[in-house]
Amino acid sequence: MKEQLEALRAEAQEQLRECVDSAGVEALRVRYLGKKGQLTALLRGMGALSPEERPKMGALVNQARSEIEAALEEKIRALKQEELNRRLQEEQLDVTVPGVSAPIGKKHPLTQVLDEIKDIFLGMGFQIASGPEVELDYYNFEALNMPKNHPARDTQDTFYITDNILLRTQTSPMQVRVMEKQKPPIKIIAPGRVYRSDEVDATHSPLFHQIEGLVVDKGIRMSDLKGTLELFAKRLYGEEAVVRFRPHHFSFTEPSAEMDIRCFSCGGKGCRLCKGEGWIEILGAGMVHPKVLQGCGIDPAEYSGFAFGMGLERIVMRRFNIDDLRLFFENDVRFLEQF
Ligand code: PHE
Repeated sequence: MKEQLEALRAEAQEQLRECVDSAGVEALRVRYLGKKGQLTALLRGMGALSPEERPKMGALVNQARSEIEAALEEKIRALKQEELNRRLQEEQLDVTVPGVSAPIGKKHPLTQVLDEIKDIFLGMGFQIASGPEVELDYYNFEALNMPKNHPARDTQDTFYITDNILLRTQTSPMQVRVMEKQKPPIKIIAPGRVYRSDEVDATHSPLFHQIEGLVVDKGIRMSDLKGTLELFAKRLYGEEAVVRFRPHHFSFTEPSAEMDIRCFSCGGKGCRLCKGEGWIEILGAGMVHPKVLQGCGIDPAEYSGFAFGMGLERIVMRRFNIDDLRLFFENDVRFLEQF
């Protein structure tokens, strides 16, 4: 029996040496130490021994058992260490290798210029207002002194949702919304999307952007309008910018005007950019119509104001020399990257 035990021990050590992974070690543990293992079988065979031999043999078997156990533990530890060393080798991380930079986006050209325009007006003490793009007929037309039969209401130009609800065709309804809520002094700009049912081409889009402006207070005059807008033009286009005002008609301002900027390409002589005019139209403006003030509960005998509205796309097209408005909305990164 002693010999058997010796052989078993030697065999276990031998097999353990050849073992290459933890699954193999586990199999050996079961083979030698398990309930149906060989050492257990030996212990069971001890019944055949004499009472004197039994404790001696028992001690030997237990000794062999703990030796094998220790050897198994040692093997497991060695395998783990080996594994760790291998991974440390294989998964070496070189922290000095330059990183892979994630591409960073940039602001859309429309947003860039809008931010600039906002800054200019914020610098002049204006606040920024915003309101719904799905608008009531009342705010888009009626309250702006455009009664039901007014040509600007032509359904060809307006996306109607119901008889009373439409997509705003201009940011001017914000004049009324602000005046209803806020009493003078008022000094706001309201940038936002507007909609007209135009066919898409190089200069038309059913969705575009306007920036509305409104100033109402005691003693606001046409000279305030001119001074403010001329200053704006110089901030946006540079000190050398020259502007002119032409009479125009808007139902919600009286008098009304359009502001042109002298063509910065030809200096006023006339060229392709200004279509031979020498001047480029920038915005519409005027003194807020007394009817509009009254409709908002502001007494036109006490207060007066001016309003203006400009198209963002046209301003950005001129700024960056972009000749097709569709490019703004296609969002081709090769185009957007250039600004
Ligand atoms: N809303 C006008 C337009 O879309 C522009 C405008 C705004 C004119 C404010 C006068 C005052 O053409």
